[in-house]
Amino acid sequence: MSAHELHEAPFLRSVLLDRDWIEHPDAYPFVLPAVQALEHLELAPVTYFIGENGSGKSTILEAIAVACGFNAEGGTMNFNFATRRSESPLHQCIRLTRAPRRPRTGFFLRAESFFNLATEIERLDAEPALSPPVIDSYGGESLHEQSHGESFLALMKHRFGPNGLYILDEPEAALSPSRQLSLLIRMHELLDEGSQFIIATHAPIVLAYPGATIYQLDERGITSVDYDQTEHVQLTRDFLNDRDRYLQRLLAPESG
Ligand SMILES: Nc1ncnc2c1ncn2[C@@H]1O[C@H](COP(=O)(O)OP(=O)(O)OP(=O)(O)O)[C@@H](O)[C@H]1O
Ligand SMILES: [Mg+2]
Repeated sequence: MSAHELHEAPFLRSVLLDRDWIEHPDAYPFVLPAVQALEHLELAPVTYFIGENGSGKSTILEAIAVACGFNAEGGTMNFNFATRRSESPLHQCIRLTRAPRRPRTGFFLRAESFFNLATEIERLDAEPALSPPVIDSYGGESLHEQSHGESFLALMKHRFGPNGLYILDEPEAALSPSRQLSLLIRMHELLDEGSQFIIATHAPIVLAYPGATIYQLDERGITSVDYDQTEHVQLTRDFLNDRDRYLQRLLAPESG
């Protein structure tokens, strides 16, 4: 393998479910079709999870993140706080195949708990410490005093770095369409510098990184799909191509 290939190899190569460790197969999360289908999933430098609300994207993302050593509440591997215990037992039952090289940094973005992370940074910086304030590595400005999108952009710019493992759950929640394009640009830089991304998303723009692996989660399990095959893209494209007709059909009184 050449040095270039080595540099590009993802940190996490695959994830599989070790059924021997499942204590309650009839309970959440093991009843989810996507979790039942978690046989052996290859992970790429960019891997997306898509699927309907409730299909299990966050559950699987969280299990991968916790198995990697991230706090279930999100943040870098250095954070160790819990506002409530909410992680599923799935992380104890999955096995990750890792590359020999380890990530130098990383971040687990949980859509629901970015607020808690901002609070935790303020709490840490309020304590006496010899090291520089934690917020300095996030751009210096309190994440609570910036908008949702501004604070996420500050995070990507200042805290995300080369050779990082980034697990992002619906990053679009914070971002306007043009800032979603900024996310793709930042991803491109970080991928060039040896990083890996695992992202759950509903947003066609966020989903568009070229050459990525896209896994669709649904009642049939987990299927690898092409960008243009995804409902996200087809539905959005149909809607924008002929909005009037689409809405007429959608909002028409039920016939019969
Ligand atoms: N702690 C829990 N206990 C029981 N069921 C749960 C728990 N957390 C999630 N679920 C259920 O598991 C299913 C999958 O949830 P999950 O959050 O993984 O979905 P998702 O694909 O991320 O959805 P969304 O697109 O809305 O974020 C949902 O039906 C949800 O109600
Ligand atoms: Mg989710």
